[in-house]
Amino acid sequence: MHPQLLPTYHSNFSGSPLIAFAPGRINLIGEHTDYQEGFVFPAAVKQGIWVAIQKNDIRSCRLISADFGQEFSFDLDSFTPKKGHWANYAMGMCALMKQSGYEVKGFDMVIGGNIPVGSGLSSSAALSVGIGTAISALFDFDIPKKNLALYAQKSEHLYAGVKCGIMDPYASAFGREGKALLLDCRSNTHQEIPVHLGNYSLILVNSKVKHSLADSAYNKRREACEESVRLLQANYPEIITLRDLSISDLGKIEEILPKSFFPKAKHVITECDRVHEAAKALQSGDLITFGRLLDASHTSLSQDFEVSCPELDFLAQIATSMPEVLGSRMMGGGFGGCTINLVRTDFLEKFKSHIQIGYEKRFLKSPEFIPVEVFEGARML
Ligand code: GLA
Repeated sequence: MHPQLLPTYHSNFSGSPLIAFAPGRINLIGEHTDYQEGFVFPAAVKQGIWVAIQKNDIRSCRLISADFGQEFSFDLDSFTPKKGHWANYAMGMCALMKQSGYEVKGFDMVIGGNIPVGSGLSSSAALSVGIGTAISALFDFDIPKKNLALYAQKSEHLYAGVKCGIMDPYASAFGREGKALLLDCRSNTHQEIPVHLGNYSLILVNSKVKHSLADSAYNKRREACEESVRLLQANYPEIITLRDLSISDLGKIEEILPKSFFPKAKHVITECDRVHEAAKALQSGDLITFGRLLDASHTSLSQDFEVSCPELDFLAQIATSMPEVLGSRMMGGGFGGCTINLVRTDFLEKFKSHIQIGYEKRFLKSPEFIPVEVFEGARML
């Protein structure tokens, strides 16, 4: 539990609050495929966001961030999102619930989390899903998890301006201890795959790079994929997204698409294939193949999809040069954030010191190491 959550609640509001928790997520493989209705392979982690909530008898919602020491109120009958403000996520979830017919009433809420900022563990999805879970429980709405994930995605589109896919809120909502979710982003359904890593562990390395244009670059990549689909539909009238194409189509696709678009389409098509291969490899305990697929994903994201950066390339390359590391790749939207690494557990300390020394020498700053465990999704505590 977040140490400041309840003290902050009790010193500002009355009554005893309900508490919701929603985790951040990692993604084993399947990057920039969700918004093309492709396949992804995320899992929820232990780090996340706690939300304390109780009804009040006014039409206002009063929020406090225990981490930022900031307060914010909005009126349920007329509110305007404030560009870049954390409270937008609460306004967004309320707006979407109200649109769906849920009678949201006034509440007091305190929010606190332990997801390292800018790490790419998707704190914004955890925040939205946590808020949604809390409001749903408080007013007995019993909103299905899938709908909460869809509201969280839409809220990010409308209130943060990022045209993200469903992966992050879905993983936060549906995560299961010890299981990764093989998620089909067309049907929005998943299969749970046990994550047995034997003598190996997952560790994230945060490059501490935050690209200021990452959001607009993300939207541009999405548009490039959508434009490729339009161009390809002349020859492939049956396709709806790039997910409908397979590796055997690549030769023909290369002839149709302009040079600037083809590698991006190639990434999405090959990445969907890697997701299936990786799920198979993990299920059969073939960690070597699983690790190779992570490496191949990085190469494709960096060279074909062009969403990496020198820091992430360096981290992935130095990691894969160590025989005790089975795989390494950038994770999430890109242009900064973390790499995810599959490292032999008894080598973790050496792994960290090699990376630290190399990264500091090259970029004159320290990376951050974030151990992760695959854990349960959003819940009331
Ligand atoms: C961000 C988005 C996700 C997904 C990843 C890239 O995390 O929120 O929807 O597109 O980037 O795989």
